[in-house]
Amino acid sequence: MSHVSDLIATDIEQYLQVHERKSLLRFITCGSVDDGKSTLIGRLLYDSKMIFEDQMAALESDSKKVGTQGDDIDFALLVDGLAAEREQGITIDVAYRFFSTEKRKFIVADTPGHEQYTRNMVTGASTADVAVILIDARKGVLTQTRRHSYLVSLIGIRKVVLAINKMDLVGYDQATFAHILGDYVDFAARIGLTDITGIPLSALKGVNMVEHSPETAWYKGPTLMEYLESVEVDDAARKGAFRLPVQWVNRPNLDFRGFSGQIASGEIRTGDAIRVQPSGRTSTVSRIVTYDGDLNVAVAGQSVTLTLADEIDISRGDVISRNDSPAGIADQFEATLVWMNDSPMLPGRPYLMKIGTKVISASITEPKYKVNVNTLEHLAAKKLELNEIGIVNVALDQAIAFDAYEENQTTGGFILIDRISNATVGAGMLHFALRRSENVHWQAVDTDKKQRAAIKGQSPAVLWFTGLSGAGKSTIANMVEKKLLASGHHTYLLDGDNVRHGLNKDLGFTDTDRVENIRRVAEVSKLMVDAGLIVMVSFISPFRSERRMARELVAQGEFFEVFVDTPLAVAEQRDVKGLYKKAREGKIKNFTGIDSPYEAPENPEIRLDTTGLSVDQAADIIIARLKDAGVI
Ligand code: ADX
Repeated sequence: MSHVSDLIATDIEQYLQVHERKSLLRFITCGSVDDGKSTLIGRLLYDSKMIFEDQMAALESDSKKVGTQGDDIDFALLVDGLAAEREQGITIDVAYRFFSTEKRKFIVADTPGHEQYTRNMVTGASTADVAVILIDARKGVLTQTRRHSYLVSLIGIRKVVLAINKMDLVGYDQATFAHILGDYVDFAARIGLTDITGIPLSALKGVNMVEHSPETAWYKGPTLMEYLESVEVDDAARKGAFRLPVQWVNRPNLDFRGFSGQIASGEIRTGDAIRVQPSGRTSTVSRIVTYDGDLNVAVAGQSVTLTLADEIDISRGDVISRNDSPAGIADQFEATLVWMNDSPMLPGRPYLMKIGTKVISASITEPKYKVNVNTLEHLAAKKLELNEIGIVNVALDQAIAFDAYEENQTTGGFILIDRISNATVGAGMLHFALRRSENVHWQAVDTDKKQRAAIKGQSPAVLWFTGLSGAGKSTIANMVEKKLLASGHHTYLLDGDNVRHGLNKDLGFTDTDRVENIRRVAEVSKLMVDAGLIVMVSFISPFRSERRMARELVAQGEFFEVFVDTPLAVAEQRDVKGLYKKAREGKIKNFTGIDSPYEAPENPEIRLDTTGLSVDQAADIIIARLKDAGVI
């Protein structure tokens, strides 16, 4: 192990102790494949002597076989470890690497530089103290340099190293260096980045990586390693207000009830007055319990269990704050949203938001604008596509405790999860609460749904007909309504075509408009259920997400999804309105089943195969089901 600190071999205990006390710097590297990023990281690992002998041997032989540096060591191979990456010559996902020097420990997040990986950068950078932005000295500040810098600033990294690499290829020319740095500093100021250190480098030749090099005698600043070893990390989390997002309620027996989680910011002492948010209940800290025993004081980063003087109701997802510096409470916000999924963000669609330890249903409004990250221009947008960044409003189901992202990355940063696929589809930063939610209160009324329904001799319900255009939804719904009326029931039929003549006449057939179409009619159906009616909704409603939203708006047992299951070929052959023909001729765009998707229900309450049923039979199946369920 000739390349590792000798202490490991001689006195492992002491080595670990020394290690323990060293401070930790997290940084990210941004740059493209060609800027020499892998070489730079490889060089840092090599020079910090954290490469083991077996890796070293592999590196030497790989360098000869597949390296790009002739007989010299190809440091990039240390980093581009994956076979697939080597073949493609690119780095794909975020890779975290750990190394240490005598002075410090480091975690470097290596994020890929090619365009479509905004996502990886946002993930990799979220905990970094410093960003090392690579530039090829021959090329200067490029579009992607601006994009990376914008993301760096968005994420909240304030310290930037502008690593102007490949100086050997421009003859270590001071003017070139000064010119690029000047260019960059001008741009960076516009996005709020002011703490910038430019370093002239040749990662390949080791120039200014660790030692000052004679080639750049004109350069008086720190080498890259000197900078990384000495840069002061301002510990914002530690200085911030106390926040403990509750991870779980720890109740091993009746005598002990503690609230566990990792302290996101600030510090807490026994005896401190706390406030549980969003409920607002207050108490004082009795004990701070940890795995290694009780503490009198605990700080950001520590995992603790608090016990309180009073028995108050706290659940997972709540935030414990100090009573004198509580978080904000709101259910609507302005936020920056970075979209990370192949399917675009659709305004009005319900997503799950995870913020701190809380998971909650959230919907996003149409973006106020999206940002062209290359030019910083604001552009109009109806939705956000993969890698796009927009300013949006977020509306939640309930109020939560939060801070602005600028103040606190844990209680102000969030991710969005798709409710159907469970994939992380977006990441965002809260700016501020929208005050409007505060001024609109729920008005209590004396008459309720039960009374309204009872007088009609029924239980309210939604019959949600979904299926392709021409499947027979409206025909069957119409028959069901006639039969219900004939037996003295109170109904209403909301038909897609008809509602699109009034309430929804501003909407077309893009995915975005369909989501809004269903959101509105789902809200209307909820009101009608509240009025005590049996309401039939006959809309294509092609997306599972929105049908699920409609279902969740009403009480359990009130929603009946009726899948009018007519195969495309059959609906197209019937073509009652002549629309399929037009769609096939390209005269109608975004036609369901032709060039717009239909997501069939997986577990509908009722499925009707219209190829083998008459309208009358189909209606009778539904009526029977309503009787079974006690609706009528
Ligand atoms: S939904 O997809 O948003 O639920 P909705 O049920 O309101 O659709 O409207 C569907 C009706 O609009 C169809 O039955 C058809 O008559 C008409 N229509 C016109 N253009 C389209 C289209 N591009 N796709 C589907 N239906 C269309």
